[in-house]
Amino acid sequence: MTLASHPIAAPALLPEVSAFLSKAKIGGVVGGREVFASDDGVFETVDPGTGAVLARVARLTAADVNHAVDAAAHAFAKSDWARMPVNERCVFLHRLADAAEARKPILAQIESLDCGKVLAQAADDVQNFVDTLRYFASLAQNLEMRTVIAVKGHEAAVVRHAWGPCGFIIPWNFPLLLCGWGIAPALAAGNTCVVKPAEDTPLSTLYIGFLARELGFPDGVLNVVPGMGETAGAALASHSGLRRMSFTGSPEVGREIAAKCGANLVPVKLELGGKGAAVVFNDVDIPAVAQKLVQAITFHAGQVCCDATRWLIQKDIYEKLVDECATRMQAVAIGHQMDAQTQMGPLVSEKQRRRVLGYLEKGETGGARRVLPGGAATVPGRNGFFVKPALLAGSLDNVAAREEIFGPVAYLAPFKDEAEGVRLANATDYGLGNSVWSTDLARCRRVAESFESANGWINAHNVVVHGVPYGGIKKSGMGGGVGSLATLLDYYRNISVVRPL
Ligand code: NAI
Ligand code: MG
Repeated sequence: MTLASHPIAAPALLPEVSAFLSKAKIGGVVGGREVFASDDGVFETVDPGTGAVLARVARLTAADVNHAVDAAAHAFAKSDWARMPVNERCVFLHRLADAAEARKPILAQIESLDCGKVLAQAADDVQNFVDTLRYFASLAQNLEMRTVIAVKGHEAAVVRHAWGPCGFIIPWNFPLLLCGWGIAPALAAGNTCVVKPAEDTPLSTLYIGFLARELGFPDGVLNVVPGMGETAGAALASHSGLRRMSFTGSPEVGREIAAKCGANLVPVKLELGGKGAAVVFNDVDIPAVAQKLVQAITFHAGQVCCDATRWLIQKDIYEKLVDECATRMQAVAIGHQMDAQTQMGPLVSEKQRRRVLGYLEKGETGGARRVLPGGAATVPGRNGFFVKPALLAGSLDNVAAREEIFGPVAYLAPFKDEAEGVRLANATDYGLGNSVWSTDLARCRRVAESFESANGWINAHNVVVHGVPYGGIKKSGMGGGVGSLATLLDYYRNISVVRPL
């Protein structure tokens, strides 16, 4: 197998990036101040493409996180944030969007280095963050805050208010993008936020915390609490002073967060994993579909919750499509995320690399064929967490076909007809995003609408658009999803005001 790897010198770091990374330690942002851990603890975040330490970050304790929730509660009660006219509040969101956009090259380098994300894709994530802020700012400004209801014998209205302090725990695969999806609707509605970034990738969220402070956000409106999941994350999720909680990550941790929120009756939004299917019919343009499937599974090295990880292919084109995909996967340029030629960067950590390699072995032990064997990849001069893309085939009862791997690994299976394609796609505990591929658009719509998932895509995969609700059902999530008007409405509490006539 030939691997095109390009150990080309990365673009020089921007002075602002070097300055940010070379701070002795980077603190959290609480109540408008940079804060360090009360026990002086720090943790290191590394560049997954080299394994080298990038920065030292404050490892906040449970008590420090409790202070951050207090700061958010104080800001909600005492600052003008929740009460100011929505257009004034949204000036702050637009200011943050404009500043993040102006600093796109800085934020993209920080995100690329910290996550192992290809630089151009990191820049797209920064733009997505900017667009999310603008989308929710304009939505909030156009929302009716008082809806009159016509009922017999009563004067009635529903009035919206912000909830108060909201907690967010975000994962390491799309830190900045997911931070935006969380905080933008919450802030636009007038809530205050406490954000716990993932310990593998805290830097872009911290940068945004400092930026908001610099732009004059009232103290305590946006707090960022770096730390470990089991301590800082657990403290945030169990705080009874929160009014809403949102978590994105693994179903295992999602369950724990939901239990903690349940104990306090705090409403919770969970965005969890997936095991998406691409259902490919025999009338497609095979090279074009192969190209898109390979792009999807190698995008951010497969660390994408809504990816197509089960490729269900109609029998008569199975061999041809698999061959096309395997050829393209072998040609994917693996390298450091900042190198210009790199198409696929490293996994985020050695822990994730062990997980992915472990699934390849477990899958094979369980009877799957390694059509494209995958395995660890080496990139000359780069000691990063690289893996090769892989294809497995066999029974869909296999562990590698059932569980989320979170790497560039697709599981292949043939199907006979439309009914079987839909049945196999739905035979999973997850319910995030599936796609259907065919030139028969009537069939596409029929199949897409039959998926037991929250997203059904036609002749494309991973299609997430501001304004279209995005969420998960079954093991993939609960609590209403993100990215649309429905999300903004979740960040208001309603009061029904009624007078008998
Ligand atoms: P994780 O679910 O442990 O981490 C996500 C976030 O939760 C991080 O901010 C972490 O600090 C926090 N966290 C961890 N334990 C916590 C706890 N007890 N209480 C509160 N917060 C806690 O995910 P991990 O271990 O990094 O990845 C494992 C697998 O999870 C991946 O291989 C993938 O399958 C899945 N995952 C799915 C994501 C998605 O976008 N749906 C994102 C990240 C991981
Ligand atoms: Mg890192």
